[in-house]
Amino acid sequence: DTTVTVSPAAIGFAAVAKNRDDIVTVPAGYTATVLYRLGDPIASGVPAFANNGNDTDYARRAGDHHDGMTYFGLSASGNTPDATNSTRGLLVMNHENITQAYLHVSGATSVGGVRPEAEAQKEIECHGVSVIEVSRSAGAWSYLPTGALNRRITPNTPMVFNGPARGAAQLKTRFSADGTVGRGTINNCANGTMPWNTYLTNEENWAGYFRRASGDAAVRTAAGTPKENISLARYGITEGRTGNYGWSTVTPADTSSTLYARWNATAATTAPADGSGDFRHEPFQYGWVVEIDPFDASSVPRKRTALGRMNHEGCVIGRTIAGVRPAFYMGDDAQNEYVYKFVSSATWAAGDASSANRLAIGDKYLDAGTLYVGKLNADGSGQWLPLVFGQGPLNAGNATYPFADQADVLINTRLAADALGATRMDRPEWTAVNPATGEMYLTLTNNSSRTVATTDAANPRAYSDPRAAATNPNVSAGTTNGNANGHVIRLRESGDTSEATSFTWDIYAFGAGSDLDATNINLSGLDATNDFSSPDGLWFGLPSNVTGQTTPVLWIQTDDGAFTDQTNCMMLAAIPGVVGDGSARTITNTIGGTSATQSTRVGKAPGTALRRFLVGPRECEITGIYSTPDGKSVFVNIQHPGENGNGGSITSSWPASQSGTPTTPSRPRSATVVITKDDGGIVGL
Ligand code: FEO
Ligand code: CA
Ligand code: CA
Ligand code: CA
Repeated sequence: DTTVTVSPAAIGFAAVAKNRDDIVTVPAGYTATVLYRLGDPIASGVPAFANNGNDTDYARRAGDHHDGMTYFGLSASGNTPDATNSTRGLLVMNHENITQAYLHVSGATSVGGVRPEAEAQKEIECHGVSVIEVSRSAGAWSYLPTGALNRRITPNTPMVFNGPARGAAQLKTRFSADGTVGRGTINNCANGTMPWNTYLTNEENWAGYFRRASGDAAVRTAAGTPKENISLARYGITEGRTGNYGWSTVTPADTSSTLYARWNATAATTAPADGSGDFRHEPFQYGWVVEIDPFDASSVPRKRTALGRMNHEGCVIGRTIAGVRPAFYMGDDAQNEYVYKFVSSATWAAGDASSANRLAIGDKYLDAGTLYVGKLNADGSGQWLPLVFGQGPLNAGNATYPFADQADVLINTRLAADALGATRMDRPEWTAVNPATGEMYLTLTNNSSRTVATTDAANPRAYSDPRAAATNPNVSAGTTNGNANGHVIRLRESGDTSEATSFTWDIYAFGAGSDLDATNINLSGLDATNDFSSPDGLWFGLPSNVTGQTTPVLWIQTDDGAFTDQTNCMMLAAIPGVVGDGSARTITNTIGGTSATQSTRVGKAPGTALRRFLVGPRECEITGIYSTPDGKSVFVNIQHPGENGNGGSITSSWPASQSGTPTTPSRPRSATVVITKDDGGIVGL
């Protein structure tokens, strides 16, 4: 029996008020400094960023839409890891997507439906991952444009496949006839920080980038691969799609290049039926967790197929205990998808954390193990259901999708989870593990398709938020019904071990405006100091050994369109309790004329142990957070400020506006900020 102790609230700042200003607002006594912006050069010889749509060479500049991020300490003067260094390190971050309008002089163009290669190249290279060297000197942080380990990883960067699906028939393409290699990573959302000094980047909304012409399903059926149609449909790649940004329409100057043709997943009638002659299988090469060694700029990233294929939001390792198999927690972010756990076959050996063969250590823990999907029961219990070929319905006799082998189960993770009857969640986003207790937290950002009839105890709310988009231009369409404001759920593994196949759960906090119905909607009793909507980013801070504090600060970030009549997106700090510290509740859900009761399990009201720390500029999302090991510098990403504007109508001038409103509007840029406490103390305490 493990005794869990949690210290009282130790948050040490005055809450920031909700606001719609065009700056990053932090509490009194804190400073936010802009560090790394879209377009900033990361190699010598790259011109300064003009920010007028004429810039090129984004494979050697910061990408767009900064997202998940890790700080890795560097040795004082070399290029090796030093987990104790709080003044020199590598920032590794995702560039999830683009705000297309700001990358070009006057918006995206096409001629007769064909995109210009120069524009498409910029858009592609703005996706991926950055590795940059940062340092603190005389109190001030800067990034080093010529850092030896600086690197951009893009959708064009060579990668290899590892794990059970390596070489599978569904991974074979014209680029990789044996299905063992691929090109690049895209729509990289949240991250994972491995104790052996590697970075996990996670492919989320990759499906939207692919073209799939009408008639493709018939070609696949005729080729003897009708199962592919079931799979493509389950992952949202329906027929008649152009693909985001239309990259496959490009006619490249180098006619031998397939860098654009690869975004067309339509099966060619003239190509071999195994897919090795066209790019019909390119969508199967995406939807994976990808491991990067940031300390070796020439290393080839590895796609870890054992962790399944989905809209991977993030991948977080739980507590590591010698001799115990570690767990990795993952959300599949789409409406009514699932939460997953991977348990490695290998037991943890502490010496692996200091190995110089980092990707080989990744092979050890991430290429073999068991992938599970979560089932959450009404009584607060739950099970991890194994996605193992041959167990239960995961076999060739399955009527919906006949599974051939474990590679087929992993490539079609969602279909396997459907077959097991897992719990359909309200868009699983980030996970975080409390280092003091081992409990796992998961943001469920919102779900406009949750109805009164389809609620369950773990996804219990369906209601009409009065902030109707029709009457308020600051509220996004489609955000005000269902679970409009999201919640944060948490679970405790049975026996407090990562190897457990059962758990208990409750809901830590429900998002809501403090003005909403306290009986049925604002179930966590939020007030003006901590009301929030659409939780997304989630991270337990460092360090975890502050005197008198056993639980580090839990940081919660928002990606919201429902509460934007009152405030821009935000970040909050919390000292959470433990699973089961609250009570069972029954609420009444109402949408339109339909009402029904629903039981749920609500954690203790967070009260003053949850407080708003930061509000971002206009139209941004706050996502991505990490700190130096001393906890005195916290890095936060500001994604897509001014995303609803364009070159001719600029709706935010951030980050130029951070130091005062510019005299003429400036194109907004996603950027990293670093937050420090003016007295030099630990951020948040
Ligand atoms: Fe990229 Fe689910 O957020
Ligand atoms: Ca997210
Ligand atoms: Ca989100
Ligand atoms: Ca976003």
